[in-house]
Order: sequence, then C-alpha cells, then structure tokens
Amino acid sequence: MIDVNLRVRSARTGDRQQISTLMFFEPFVYRHLDWCSPLEWLGVPDYWVIEKNGSVQAVLACPQEPPQIAWIRLFAYSGLMNMNKAWSLLWGHAREYFSQFGNVCVAAICSQGWFRVLLEQNGFITRQQIILLERRGRFPVQPHVAPEITIRPMMVEDLPGVVHTDKAAFSPLWQHTQSSFEMAFPQAVLATAALHNDRVIGYQISTQTPSGAHLARLAIVPEFQRQGIGRALIADLVDKLRKRAINRLTVNTQSDNLASLALYGQAGFVRTGEQYSVYEFEVHS
Ligand SMILES: CC(C)(COP(=O)(O)OP(=O)(O)OC[C@H]1O[C@@H](n2cnc3c(N)ncnc32)[C@H](O)[C@@H]1OP(=O)(O)O)[C@@H](O)C(=O)NCCC(=O)NCCS
Repeated sequence: MIDVNLRVRSARTGDRQQISTLMFFEPFVYRHLDWCSPLEWLGVPDYWVIEKNGSVQAVLACPQEPPQIAWIRLFAYSGLMNMNKAWSLLWGHAREYFSQFGNVCVAAICSQGWFRVLLEQNGFITRQQIILLERRGRFPVQPHVAPEITIRPMMVEDLPGVVHTDKAAFSPLWQHTQSSFEMAFPQAVLATAALHNDRVIGYQISTQTPSGAHLARLAIVPEFQRQGIGRALIADLVDKLRKRAINRLTVNTQSDNLASLALYGQAGFVRTGEQYSVYEFEVHS
C-alpha cells in the first residue's frame, strides 16, 4: 500500500537534529568511514530524506566527490519504517538524480551484513576487498632514495601538491579532493611530504587510533614510483612513531593493489584477516 504521507525531498541544514537522532539512536545505520561526520555534508544536493508529517524517517547521503563518484556516506532509517521501503524510495530518487550526469559510480565499503544484503539485492556488485594489515616486523625499514628527494613534515601549503599527487596516483574511485585533504590534514598524527626540487611528489597521512596509528593515505606520483620513495615515507613514519612510543601501525589497502601489497609486505606488514567488500553500482543516463 502506498503511504501518501511519505515524501522524499532534499535534506536541508535544518534537518541536522533529526538526522543525528537517526544516526545515534537507530540500530541499523550505515556510515562511511570518513574524515568528517555525515552531518557536515548537509547542503549538498545528493542528500535526501524521507519525511512524514514533518518528521524525518530515513536518510541517504551520497555526495559526488569528485564528480561522478558518489560514496554512500550515510543510510539510516527510523524503526517506524520498513528498511526495504526506506531504501527503495531513497535509492530510486538517487538513481533518477544521478542519471542526469552521464555515468556515476555509487560505491560503499561495507562490513555490516544487513547493508551488504540490501546492496546485493539492489544490483550492487563487489569488485574488490579492502584488507587490513598490521606492521609486525620490529626491524626498521631501510630507505634508499636519491639525494635530491627530501622528506619533511607536510605543511598546509603542500595541499595542492598533495591533491595533484593523489589524482595522478589513484583511480577516480579512490581520489580525494582538496576539501577532503583540508579535513584530513588537521586530524593527522603524522603527515609527511616527499619533495623533488620543491615539488610535492609523494605524501603519507597517518591518524591516531586507540591502540596506535593508522597509515590512512600513501601515494607517489607515477613518474617517481618504484624509486624507493614509498618505502622511505614508511621508514620515516615508523621511526617517528617509535620515538613517540607508538608501536602499533595498521594500514588498509585494496586486495588487487599489487604495488601496495608488495610494498607493505616488504615493510613488515601482514594481513590481520579483517576485510571489507567494496560495492559499486554504475548509474547510466
Ligand atoms: C604503492 C605505492 C605508494 C608504492 O610507492 P613506490 O614509491 O613506488 O614504492 P617503492 O619504490 O618504495 O617500492 C618499495 C618496494 O615495494 C614493492 N613495489 C612497489 N611498487 C611495486 C610494483 N608496481 N610492483 C611490484 N612491487 C612493487 C617492491 O618490493 C619495491 O621494492 P624494490 O623496488 O626494491 O623491488 C605507489 O605505487 C602508489 O602511489 N600507488 C598508487 C597509490 C596507492 O595505491 N597507494 C597505496 C594505497 S593504500
């Protein structure tokens, strides 16, 4: 039966309180691991709610950043609603909206069983896994880089070079934008840049975790890859963490990223066994 009181509309900044109530009090909430709260995305057009008699019953946020890449940042629904109903109304709306942009890849990294089932039932496919590794080698990583390469703490002025590096190194699904880096940078426990003649050609950003540190981002521009710079950034990171008595270091990478798996293996990282599926759905116009 169609409930005529249910209305899908764009989320507004005034919905903040009701969305945060869904996020924090409902049992089934999917939240993307992110540099900011899903509430910070309010105001972007690719963010919708289901409203009933003035009350927000469900929410779906999948902002395009960069354009044509839309990670699902939030899906939550009230216990007063049926999950499939909430999803089909919001996802139907999202698909129609994205179809005006040509091809849009909607993606999610998912560990929760209920959300995996929902995505699979709706045609999302998984192409790769994100696997978690932990550095178990206690030996230092030996860096061997050319003398003209400098590694130093990242500065806010480096961010445009970091964004350029990221864009050159990662495929669009995994690229971060300037605004992502502006959020990530202040949250880093250690952020370092590799420079060649004052040009940023690589970087790493690590965050603090309850039990140590997590290497959240590492990239080298393609023309400088395979010259030991990734290894040197890790060596520098391990050394600085050791000086702060931080001994646990984790990293995530894609199961099919052979370069990073080889690098992390060489630097003493081993798989923990934890992994998450990456789901994708291509919306075509
Ligand atoms: C992964 C990445 C950071 C490696 O950086 P790099 O500076 O090229 O790596 P290094 O030159 O320090 O390599 C160190 C070791 O890693 C391994 N390795 C690095 N790239 C490799 C590749 N393409 N194929 C196989 N092994 C590779 C090798 O064992 C290498 O040692 P060797 O050259 O003595 O054989 C770089 O390829 C990159 O930026 N990739 C795109 C972004 C990315 O995937 N980031 C990691 C995501 S978590």
